[in-house]
Amino acid sequence: FLSQIGPDAHMRMILRKPPGQRTAEDLEIIYDELLHIKALSHLSNTVKRELAGVLIFESHAKAGTVLFNQGEEGTSWYIIQKGSVNVVIYGKGVVCTLHEGDDFGKLALVNDAPRAASIVLREDNCHFLRVDKEDFNRILRDVEANTVRLKEHDQDVLVLQKSLRPSSHGNIPAHFKYTVMSGGPEKILEHLLETMRLDIHFSDPASCALPFWPNILLASQGSEQERLDYAVASKRRVLSLALRWSALQGHHLLEDDTALSFLEELHGFVSNDARVLRPLKELLPELERIVKQYPDDARTSQKKHKVLLRQFSSGEERLAKKQPIRSFDDILLKVYCSDHTYTTIRVPVLATGREVTAAVADKLGSTEELLLINLSASGERQILKPNDVSVFQSLGVNGRLFVCSREQLDSLNPLPEQEGPSTGSMSSFELMSSKDLAFQMTQYDWELFSCVHEYELVYHTFGRQAYRRSTANLDLFLKRFNQVQLWVVTEVCLCGTLSKRVQLLKKFIKIAAHCREFKNLNSFFAIIMGMCNPAVSRLSQTWEKLPSKFKKFYAEFESLLDPSRNHRAYRLTVAKMEPPIIPFMPLLIKDMTFTHEGNKTFIDGLVNFEKML
Ligand code: CMP
Repeated sequence: FLSQIGPDAHMRMILRKPPGQRTAEDLEIIYDELLHIKALSHLSNTVKRELAGVLIFESHAKAGTVLFNQGEEGTSWYIIQKGSVNVVIYGKGVVCTLHEGDDFGKLALVNDAPRAASIVLREDNCHFLRVDKEDFNRILRDVEANTVRLKEHDQDVLVLQKSLRPSSHGNIPAHFKYTVMSGGPEKILEHLLETMRLDIHFSDPASCALPFWPNILLASQGSEQERLDYAVASKRRVLSLALRWSALQGHHLLEDDTALSFLEELHGFVSNDARVLRPLKELLPELERIVKQYPDDARTSQKKHKVLLRQFSSGEERLAKKQPIRSFDDILLKVYCSDHTYTTIRVPVLATGREVTAAVADKLGSTEELLLINLSASGERQILKPNDVSVFQSLGVNGRLFVCSREQLDSLNPLPEQEGPSTGSMSSFELMSSKDLAFQMTQYDWELFSCVHEYELVYHTFGRQAYRRSTANLDLFLKRFNQVQLWVVTEVCLCGTLSKRVQLLKKFIKIAAHCREFKNLNSFFAIIMGMCNPAVSRLSQTWEKLPSKFKKFYAEFESLLDPSRNHRAYRLTVAKMEPPIIPFMPLLIKDMTFTHEGNKTFIDGLVNFEKML
């Protein structure tokens, strides 16, 4: 019999049998065949044996047959046994061709997403091996290949990798999904649009309940109504993504003319569309609100006169609630000369070294070539470059800006005030309860922290020079950390009496404990690091006199600073805390820098998306 019909036909006959009717011998024959299929080569033999029991043979006679359409719900995974297919994407046409031994269609199954492309037969008489969703989920989902590379015109456009999604709700167990590793910006965006969950606050159940779009994408198929529905749904997705994106930008939108004009243009298109596609109307007000919020004239006037940031605040500014500083705000800078006289200039936050020097020269009526120096309290001189932006941000807690000629450089001396205080303030803050102090500190830190936009971390990591954007809010927050740390060291060192010093250590330990209670990890660590400073830690007599209860607290706090195993102690503590918290910012910065330096931004011309997550 075999010799009459040939092994291929025999195989087909077996594969056509309903899985329940396959004999042990049949399964063996299928299994042997599976050993030679490229798309399965990464799977274990056990998995292949299981597959032998469920694979179904499917063949189609005519080129042009559509196996499934983009947008549909995924029901099966396919392997090409013979022939070839085109991968077709709406608006792009044929993006690639798959051949014998290739597989397709697992994205929709693994991610529970709509089909990312349509599959059309490229030649007559194609054979496929098919695994249906239920079997796929049972046998393959968790053992499936780790990496999927999608190609368009022979080039990788999207690289996905399987990762374990922890269960989001108690009733959904942890499961695997493909997430974007790298890709072209456009393809990443497409993928995001296809797989995103529409937000609940756009409370139209239809938009969430209809993620799949049957039979409409290949031009002539589908009714007019279906095509309309698809168009509306796609546009809604684009719109909600744009809205979420602009919400994330917050006040940064105002600094980005390109983003604003994009939103305006989008608004124009959507208003036009909404006349015909009525369901789009609902999303229009939200977009309108964003666009109208920044009308042209307000934009420019806001840019012209804005809150001035005083470089060295005395304290009165604490009365007003902190506002985020924006790149186009102005700042008042005190710039000193070698004889310790100063000029006050008003420059934009982003002002470069050159601009600051020019403004000073202008005020002084000087024609000499001036250098701009960042002079630290210890007399260290750092010459600022003409192209450095936001020069004041490089100043340390007691640093000051100086201008001088090159000849004067060596004779520059710090101001007496840079020395810092000469008497401690313990007598006053000793009277306040540690809890109140910690609370006030936390409130202040929270205000500073709330002004920091996520983007500032990005600018800081990638270098603000490259973006010409300010990281002023972040820098103020980081400066605050140093301030608190130095405050602790200064107070302890200025305290001349042993018993008072012991009191002081106790006080700081108590304040730190309350800061931790208030989930203010930034000040908590600043205080502890202040106490670890050699100037404090070497005061052995003081530490000896510290009651053992406090020693124990301190030892526990200090252990959280332990950097071993990538700051594991700290990370575990934070993981247990319910937000909102004020994080230990220097570590966050370190993590970002590490991620940035350790990972390329582009891989083979694709955006390294994983790095950005
Ligand atoms: P799925 O989304 O389930 O259905 C369409 C399939 O086409 C998709 O899985 C991939 O397996 C396959 N495919 C191949 N190349 C591409 C591509 N460039 N874009 C989208 N899908 C592709």
